[in-house]
Amino acid sequence: MENRPAPSGERDPASIRSMPDLAPTLVDQLDTPSLLVDRDVLDRNIEAMGRQARERGVDLRPHFKTHKSVQIAQLQLQHGATGLTCATLGEARVLADAGVEDIFVAYPVWPGGPKKQLLRQLADQVTLSVGLDSTVSADALAGALGATPGSLRVLVEVDTGGHRTGVRPADAGALAVHAARLGLDVAGVFTHGGHSYGLGDAPQRAARDEVDGLAEAAAALRSNGVEPRVVSAGSTPTAMLSATGPVTEERPGTYVFGDRQQVAIGSCRDADVALTVASTVVSRAVPGQLVLDAGTKCLGRETQPWLEGYAEVVGWPSVRLERLNDHHGVATLHGAGDDAPGVGSVVQLVPNHVCPTVNLAQELVLTRAGEILDRWPVDARALV
Ligand SMILES: Cc1ncc(COP(=O)(O)O)c(C=O)c1O
Repeated sequence: MENRPAPSGERDPASIRSMPDLAPTLVDQLDTPSLLVDRDVLDRNIEAMGRQARERGVDLRPHFKTHKSVQIAQLQLQHGATGLTCATLGEARVLADAGVEDIFVAYPVWPGGPKKQLLRQLADQVTLSVGLDSTVSADALAGALGATPGSLRVLVEVDTGGHRTGVRPADAGALAVHAARLGLDVAGVFTHGGHSYGLGDAPQRAARDEVDGLAEAAAALRSNGVEPRVVSAGSTPTAMLSATGPVTEERPGTYVFGDRQQVAIGSCRDADVALTVASTVVSRAVPGQLVLDAGTKCLGRETQPWLEGYAEVVGWPSVRLERLNDHHGVATLHGAGDDAPGVGSVVQLVPNHVCPTVNLAQELVLTRAGEILDRWPVDARALV
């Protein structure tokens, strides 16, 4: 996956990672675009994160939004996860119905419309926690729970530098007291160091921010008479960097598959990328480019200032995916000429960000050594 320049028209072996070409027998069985998951790499990623969390003495609560697959959630639980994190109540319902008993919706849930009833049902069915960053939401959550507000755990979200959601760490105590007075079970505090997504020492700095901010927030709860049982941090780049001090739990998600962003940041290696998109070249009619059957309806449109294009074309650094329409991925041939993949060739893409890519797919095709092992549904696809 390195962006090394390749001699004109030649495949660059250095950028193929440890991934072999797709076996013709595999290609014959694929309906492209489709999402391939290397079972051995997947297992290794899940096992490694479980082991590292154990070694550092923190609970592991992986984020379900990356894979949205009940089978993968079960593998994570078998490898030591204490529960799952979700972004939506719809995802939580899928997990609860699959028998997962401890679920944290790490999001400022607003119990409007049908969500009110679902929140109540889930709080009855499983150990359910949700994120909280305002007194208005606390009032609404307690109202939704009616006579049993204590059946819902809340974690006060603190902003430790991502500047998306969350109160200032010093303000966490006052919000915790407000929620506790309403009868909600205030379990602790959490943060997401989203500003870890950057080059250089961004992950290290974000991890320090997470630890410092959570320590301040936990102290603010204590000084207001609320004991935090859970102090939860997490993103894939910071997962093990912030597993220290007051932090009791980590919530990485993307680590399970890896993606092009994670490789660029250095939080996973090429060989840790478990998911690729198999895509067919459907046109070479326009000189200087090729067109793939993977557009925004497969890959999403996520970019970063420090990544070129929308996905890595594995093995072809000189073929850059620079333009996406719904069903067309237009790649420019920077030096790769006649030898670049022709019409009908199937290539593998590593998406910039794997989570939205998975959310656009119906199934994951599990592979090992060029064979299809299984097909797993994306169970919670598009659920709000
Ligand atoms: C609240 C929260 N926790 C955990 C995660 C997992 O982070 P990552 O995708 O870096 O693994 C996310 C990702 O967006 C998140 O929003």
